[in-house]
Amino acid sequence: MKDFPSIPTAPRALPLIGHVVPLLRDPLAFLNSLPALGELVRVRLGPLSMIVICDPELTRRALLDDRVFDKGGPLYDRLREVIGDGVVSCPHQAHRRLRRLSQPAFHQARLPDYARAMTGCVQETTDSWSPGQVLDVPAEMMTTSSRIITATLFSDALPSTAHGRLTDDVTTVVKSLYQRMFLIPPLDRLPTPGNRAHLAARARLHGTVERVIAERRADGADYGDLLSALVAAHDPEDDRPGMSGAEITDTVVSFVLAGIESTAATLSSALDLVARHPEVEQALHAEVDAVLGGAPATHADLPRLPLTERVITETLRLRPPGWFFTRVVTADTQLGGHLLPAGTSVAYSPYLIHHRPDIYPDPEAFSPDRWAAPHPQPPRHAFLPFAAGARKCIGDSFSMIEATLALATIAARWRLEHVPGHRGRLAAAVTLELRDLRMRARPRTSVPAAALRSPEGAP
Ligand code: HEM
Repeated sequence: MKDFPSIPTAPRALPLIGHVVPLLRDPLAFLNSLPALGELVRVRLGPLSMIVICDPELTRRALLDDRVFDKGGPLYDRLREVIGDGVVSCPHQAHRRLRRLSQPAFHQARLPDYARAMTGCVQETTDSWSPGQVLDVPAEMMTTSSRIITATLFSDALPSTAHGRLTDDVTTVVKSLYQRMFLIPPLDRLPTPGNRAHLAARARLHGTVERVIAERRADGADYGDLLSALVAAHDPEDDRPGMSGAEITDTVVSFVLAGIESTAATLSSALDLVARHPEVEQALHAEVDAVLGGAPATHADLPRLPLTERVITETLRLRPPGWFFTRVVTADTQLGGHLLPAGTSVAYSPYLIHHRPDIYPDPEAFSPDRWAAPHPQPPRHAFLPFAAGARKCIGDSFSMIEATLALATIAARWRLEHVPGHRGRLAAAVTLELRDLRMRARPRTSVPAAALRSPEGAP
């Protein structure tokens, strides 16, 4: 066991299991307590040590040096069981090529088409609501975000029955991954209900994706979707053809896992936070009324929805869905004056950085206006919902567009109110998500007729 004599250890480690209890019971409070101890803090997971980076500048340095701080450590060891060596989890050596091959799928020129599909999926959700209906908001947002990923990845290739199953399988896999990080072998292989559900969902998810890919490769047509872009991709810096079948499968499963739950969690949190802050709600309604006049939002509307975007940005600060990530050190290195030998597990946390009061005054307050003048803006590397450097989220623009369009489209027609007793509970699994959030959908009647825009979408 590495003991890192110069790095403080978090208090209250239990013999044998270390800090597993606070990490499972209240990981957010535990993380927020660490910066008081130092820039780097040692946390124990059973016999293993993990170094948590608590300082934004050191976090940036680790993220920018992705050769030395490579994907690995407890989270990625578990993720690899699901997504193999796809672009999310592959080591540095394989990453540049996979990223070059995946990048065209997210080219700026493709975004307006994706945006059209996104708005269609959000409308499908909101059209199914009736006045006064109580909504299970996280489930509604999971279905919407899952429809969006499948519409933009596969066009309409997935039958609706398979779509529901895919959403359930993603939910099961994502929910079990965090607990599996702390399951020391052979506990992860015991036939417990949790392990069995995880393995079955993982196998079905792969089966669904492999079937769609096989059909698409046999067909060969360009559907203008993410999958067509992956199938067609070739790397000018490499004489091999594009991705192998296995690489495409791992990449698609990665997009499905990385893209559905994170955006759904962002949207559920945004709807919850807006409803808790009437002054923000009023301002949001005023903006969408003026710009959309009750119509769904389009890609062209985005520049005129700055407050809607700030609400999403502030939601991503306060409750970043990706709140904790691990790395492994591949060569002896120094960080913050401490020696980290090769093999050290390191973690960084957007949540921890976003809640530091020295960077974000009153960090627990939901305040979208902190992102507008005259408020001083935080240093760029202190806002990390999509990470930074070469491993930065490939879907960052995609999901900002998705979340902004979805929030505006919902707010244009509906006001959501909390249902007493079901006001949502923040849970830190692999993503930071809300559980038990039920809200009553009230149609908005105050959309001013004068604000209704002309049919062709002119303001
Ligand atoms: C609000 C929504 C999202 C958030 C908050 C988010 C956050 C992140 C973060 C923090 C990382 C870096 C992980 C690390 O440092 O270990 C990441 C990576 C990644 N994300 Fe996202 N993500 C979102 C949506 C999406 C979507 C919609 C897609 C795809 C459709 C996607 C695909 C990926 C991929 C492929 C990577 C790996 C990039 C690489 O290593 O080159 N994400 N995401």
